[in-house]
Amino acid sequence: DKGNHRHFMAKEIYEQPEVVGRTLAHYLDMSAGRVALPFDLPVDAARLSRLTICGCGTAYIAGLMAKYWFERFALLPVDVEIASEFRYRDPPLDAGGLTILVSQSGETADTLAALRCAKAKGQKVLSIVNVASSTMARESDVVAPTLAGPEIGVASTKAFTCQLAVFAALALAIGRARGAIDGETEARLVSDLMAIPGLMAQALKCESAVEALARDIAKVRDVLYLGRGTSYPLALEGALKLKEISYIHAEGYAAGELKHGPIALVDGDMPVIVIAPTDAVIEKTVSNMQEVAARGGRLILIGDEALSHDFAGEAAASIVMPNVAPDFAALIYAVPIQLIAYHTAVVMGKDADQPRNLAKSVTVE
Ligand code: F6R
Repeated sequence: DKGNHRHFMAKEIYEQPEVVGRTLAHYLDMSAGRVALPFDLPVDAARLSRLTICGCGTAYIAGLMAKYWFERFALLPVDVEIASEFRYRDPPLDAGGLTILVSQSGETADTLAALRCAKAKGQKVLSIVNVASSTMARESDVVAPTLAGPEIGVASTKAFTCQLAVFAALALAIGRARGAIDGETEARLVSDLMAIPGLMAQALKCESAVEALARDIAKVRDVLYLGRGTSYPLALEGALKLKEISYIHAEGYAAGELKHGPIALVDGDMPVIVIAPTDAVIEKTVSNMQEVAARGGRLILIGDEALSHDFAGEAAASIVMPNVAPDFAALIYAVPIQLIAYHTAVVMGKDADQPRNLAKSVTVE
């Protein structure tokens, strides 16, 4: 049932405040201001020397983002791997270490094979899955569920943000176990997480601005997404989402890489969508925005009110986000990223729920 929405994808984007809230509530003790995992970790987190994360597509991108959090809050080195590469590479892994698999369906053939490969090397395996009865859930030492509910649209939306919510909680829990964050920091970050569902609901109000933007994007051949820090994986996700449902070619780049190649593409036609929450690296991102503007590029900004005010003269469009605490801003900024892809597909008359050549669950290798 699509409710009042034209597509499941739209319905699922709109469900995010609720399902991310439900997922966070499963992992946080909100009254105590602490993380409270609903299971015991299968390893002694204090003794871990590294963490491996594996997935495909959007789930892999969630893992890329989690790396920033595990490093920052748990001082834990992380390898994030595309499952189809990991499994055939014979990667050296310590017996007794931890591998986290991420999958909405819990059935993706390459991710399942990566799980078995990690297990065969003596790793403990934890899977973040949305389908609790899935094969990956059954074969894991520990299951960390995303409580997104059934995701029908082929393009992953609410499963992605719920995966991020679970990863954020895990990073804080492991950070506490390793003595990398103190109680006060944990309480502040937990309160930042608790604010996310309300902020996601506010972010959804950008929809009419996104619809206007989508009419322009629908006319172009290529789109570049840029971001730094956790906005970098979000740039990859924005490009993946746009190409899979609108069939417009898109690429996501770390903003600092602009001058190492993609700046050659900048012209008056190609939209350059910059994901720019106010965080520790915003000034660096701003200088990349200026580089694009100085070359007559078509700058599209996703940022807060202050930033869009500063760039009012230079940006072709801006999508304004509420002010958010920097560490988990990506969960809020995911909303316009998803809406841009969705509305572009709709304007172009594409079926956002059933993109050509794609299946919801990829059980072939
Ligand atoms: C992107 C998308 C795919 C999946 C990928 C993994 O919108 O839907 O990239 O993320 O096929 O699927 P799961 O999460 O089921 O393992």
